Amino acid sequence: MKTIVVFYSRKGSNKYLAGRIAGSLSCDIEEIRPRLNIFLLFLMNIHLGVWPLKKRVEEYERVILCGPIWMGRLIPPLRSFIKKYTQRINKLVFVTCCGSTYEKKDEKFGHGLVFREVEKMTNGKCILCQAFPIVLVLPDDKKEDTDAFMKTHLNNENFKGVIEVHFEGFIKTLTSGDK
Ligand SMILES: Cc1cc2nc3c(=O)[nH]c(=O)nc-3n(C[C@H](O)[C@H](O)[C@H](O)COP(=O)(O)O)c2cc1C
Repeated sequence: MKTIVVFYSRKGSNKYLAGRIAGSLSCDIEEIRPRLNIFLLFLMNIHLGVWPLKKRVEEYERVILCGPIWMGRLIPPLRSFIKKYTQRINKLVFVTCCGSTYEKKDEKFGHGLVFREVEKMTNGKCILCQAFPIVLVLPDDKKEDTDAFMKTHLNNENFKGVIEVHFEGFIKTLTSGDK
């Protein structure tokens, strides 16, 4: 299935994840470029949309959108991307490397709420949502350690073990079925 990975990342984890996905699927990848890329303004929901992509999303059967979650919300660069391109997207897969765990996905800052918002905004085009919580790469004694969690970013050294198993399952879903 002709696929493009489109991502936004501030600290690098989602860039890394997007790169792994594009590498595994041997597909195109492009970064979302916000017109105003100022983190503090994003947190106040002040933003000016995104620059047009170089690639044409309508030429792909599937768009995989990848980016972080802040304050339990769909972040402005991802929201702007969806608003701008939803009519032209055929199928959307939403992926995030985030802070919230699978157990807490439906709490106030959980990724489950963001997934539901993406599904709603894309009118049935979102066929799959997948989270890769950063705790998956933390040792057991650091899983509750906020400092360790904020300082940890995905890379070749820590993308091993449980997260790799989840990742391989995700890639299998994307390559074996109709997703
Ligand atoms: C200000 C801020 C708020 C955050 N809020 C949430 C949140 O509500 N839920 C969540 O799952 N993760 C939250 N996170 C964690 C990020 O989603 C996580 O660190 C992500 O991997 C960062 O991606 P990046 O390295 O691609 O920028 C937050 C991070 C920051 C910096």
